[in-house]
Amino acid sequence: MSKATGFHLRSMLREDRDEVTRLVFHSTNRYYESIGREAIFKGDELTPVDMFDVYERIDPGEGIVAVDDQSGRIIGLCFVHPRETHFSLGIMNAHPDHFGRGVARTILGEIINRAQAVNLPVRLVSSCLNLDSYSLYTRAGFVPFATFQDMYVAVPDAGLPHPPPNEIAVRSATLGDVPAMVELERKVAGISRVDDYRYFIRNEDKLWRVSIVESPDGIDGFLVSCGSHALNMIGPGVAVTRDQAAALVYDQLNQHRGRCPVLLAPVSCGELVKQLYAWGARNCEMHVAQSYGPAQVPAGVIMPSFLPETA
Ligand SMILES: CC(C)(COP(=O)(O)OP(=O)(O)OC[C@H]1O[C@@H](n2cnc3c(N)ncnc32)[C@H](O)[C@@H]1OP(=O)(O)O)[C@@H](O)C(=O)NCCC(=O)NCCS
Repeated sequence: MSKATGFHLRSMLREDRDEVTRLVFHSTNRYYESIGREAIFKGDELTPVDMFDVYERIDPGEGIVAVDDQSGRIIGLCFVHPRETHFSLGIMNAHPDHFGRGVARTILGEIINRAQAVNLPVRLVSSCLNLDSYSLYTRAGFVPFATFQDMYVAVPDAGLPHPPPNEIAVRSATLGDVPAMVELERKVAGISRVDDYRYFIRNEDKLWRVSIVESPDGIDGFLVSCGSHALNMIGPGVAVTRDQAAALVYDQLNQHRGRCPVLLAPVSCGELVKQLYAWGARNCEMHVAQSYGPAQVPAGVIMPSFLPETA
């Protein structure tokens, strides 16, 4: 792999689990605290371990770490997700003692090279608050193509006290839905990731729920959620219409009773945002989906997530 001053890149290994998890914890929390916000990861240093474990399951050997030549310690990392239509990446972290040393830029260059070698675009979701990462990506040639507001909803133990937003029926997904999910996401977002859908629906690690809206000849929407203690998040998902998206979000919120899941709501989808406010949602951050290479303008509602990272 490519060499840079004072550090080198190598593939992330299973035995890096704790060191990688500690770096995700300290690097991310240090950033949020530096801008006067609360630490994102509560608890101890191994709180974000679900990220490593999920990616070890779905993308074994694809992650990249930067290792300091002197100390032999990991000073940077990125999880990489090659898919049939694109590569996606995230989370990206540099060690706080090594910020500004070109660690992230070097890792990013390696990922772009891998994607270019197979002629695929690279996609990610980046925070609008975090100008360090926004700049990292746009300097490298990424272009934002969709904007989201991160909205969280405190769901009471008894579920939302509101009636369903409409009469659109929602049910749980089965493995038989996977071909229709592939077709739908290709139509709405121009991407697909068949193994991810199978992984969510199999749910061997008991983190995932997948909701479906049917259409007469397939499906018109699906929405995944993650119940991890490190990241309780609704997404990824797509829907043809805003009403279908609202029905899916309502169903998913009620599956996280007593918790406070966050959703990336497209800012362009005013009706969905309004509905989320009516359910008590608060904004906590803004994100943009960015692409290096072509990205389809969404032909419907797209709701990305950070675990697994999608755009
Ligand atoms: C974001 C982060 C990964 C960057 O890592 P890093 O190794 O310090 O970044 P690099 O040293 O490789 O440099 C980043 C590039 O952005 C540029 N940059 C940073 N701030 C900038 C700004 N305001 N305007 C323009 N360019 C800027 C730097 O100049 C550099 O480009 P260059 O090398 O061409 O000069 C790191 O700050 C980090 O880990 N933050 C905490 C976790 C996080 O927020 N991760 C990203 C979201 S998942």
